[in-house]
Amino acid sequence: MKDSNFLKEMNARSVWHPMAHPADSQQNPPTIVTGAQGVRITDVDGHEVVDGVGGLWNVNLGFSCEPVKAAIAAQLDRLPYYSIFRGTTNDCVIELAEELRDFFAPDGLSRAFYTSGGSDSVETALRLARQYHKVKGEPGRIKYLSLKKGYHGTHTGGASVNGNANFRTQYEPLLPGCYHIPAPYTYRNPFNETDPEKLAQLCLQALEDEIAFQGAGTIAAMIMEPVLGAGGVIPPHESFMPGVREICSKHGILLIADEVITAFGRTGSWTGSRHWGVQPDLMCTAKAITNGYFPFGAVMISDAVAEVFEKDESGRAAIGHGYTYSGHPVGAAAALACLAETKRLNVKDNAAARGAELHEGLKSLQADLDLIGDVRGGHGLMCAMELVSDRATKAPIDKARINQVQEVAYQSGAMVRVSGPNIILSPPLVLTSDDAQVILSALRAGFDSL
Ligand SMILES: Cc1ncc(COP(=O)(O)O)c(C=O)c1O
Repeated sequence: MKDSNFLKEMNARSVWHPMAHPADSQQNPPTIVTGAQGVRITDVDGHEVVDGVGGLWNVNLGFSCEPVKAAIAAQLDRLPYYSIFRGTTNDCVIELAEELRDFFAPDGLSRAFYTSGGSDSVETALRLARQYHKVKGEPGRIKYLSLKKGYHGTHTGGASVNGNANFRTQYEPLLPGCYHIPAPYTYRNPFNETDPEKLAQLCLQALEDEIAFQGAGTIAAMIMEPVLGAGGVIPPHESFMPGVREICSKHGILLIADEVITAFGRTGSWTGSRHWGVQPDLMCTAKAITNGYFPFGAVMISDAVAEVFEKDESGRAAIGHGYTYSGHPVGAAAALACLAETKRLNVKDNAAARGAELHEGLKSLQADLDLIGDVRGGHGLMCAMELVSDRATKAPIDKARINQVQEVAYQSGAMVRVSGPNIILSPPLVLTSDDAQVILSALRAGFDSL
């Protein structure tokens, strides 16, 4: 490892960072993280903080998960790579698919298509949805519906269904045939509706309206996160996702649950779909499937969808899709160990309990601080605060002030993430109550510094 002077001098000189302006990264170089233990990360200066970001919503079991590390090391030694394209497979993916089948049985999902991460999972699900209809004899079903504020990664298909202009405008034109429905976001919505249940109904009506306008027979799938995550942690009313399920079923539209962050316990339930009592047709997973230690993902497929492909005799169901790293044996070995540990530690229950504490703590902060316009959470370990410069008008806060909150919070013991006007918290699911208090007091210090 080069010394710290070298690292600081060269920081962001030759690296372009995702989701950052290259010039801004050069002017405000990113924090150089050099180590981690448990739920804490350490920077190049030896400063240690609680990671309120959980890596990037993925290090659910913390940074010291020995079984996953050991599985990766052992697999690298035994079989570091082999492809699972037609004609070959490896032992790890077979075993993992059976484990995933058990894990996702309550969601009605039984087959796995492996990917290298979340964006790949989204792309895979979108493509399989179109193919499903073609195999079934409805080739005109090609469009996609999604929610404004939704985040579905940054491949071109995913960006096209993405509901945030930041990920779209500079990359247009995107995929034609993608239409967006208002999000059940009580703090800001086109209906001026603050009641979550009424807003859910209005958004469902907007979905019905869009389907009628487009023609149900032209739509392949609706993709949604059970709790909108990167768009600012927006939990819908409990009636919303079941309502979407009902409408999709009525119109023959597949429901894709994008659970890249919600699968494996983050919402306090094993999946976000299960949290709302919904069975999707396809589910995108990635991130916590390997605790973030190896890039890997899986699209889970329902029996009904699988049957259409598996019973096809026309040849149309041959899958012309896949990645070199689909079914990577090291990723699969990591996922096997991770799944076992996730279940052994029953992290969903801790996510629910610590999430409630964090949410309460944020609401107490809001009671004292006018800058906090909205606090969202209450469904596991995903919370957000939306900052405003004026509560009455909800005018956005300036970037410098929100960055200062983040910087002082970091100096005071917690890494938190700023995304637009939001401070987002998605810590590891093995967080303790004391860790949650560290995050809250660091945030308070951040606000006090303004
Ligand atoms: C819901 C959702 N879908 C897809 C993605 C994209 O995943 P990745 O960054 O692994 O490509 C993310 C990433 O945060 C996500 O939150």
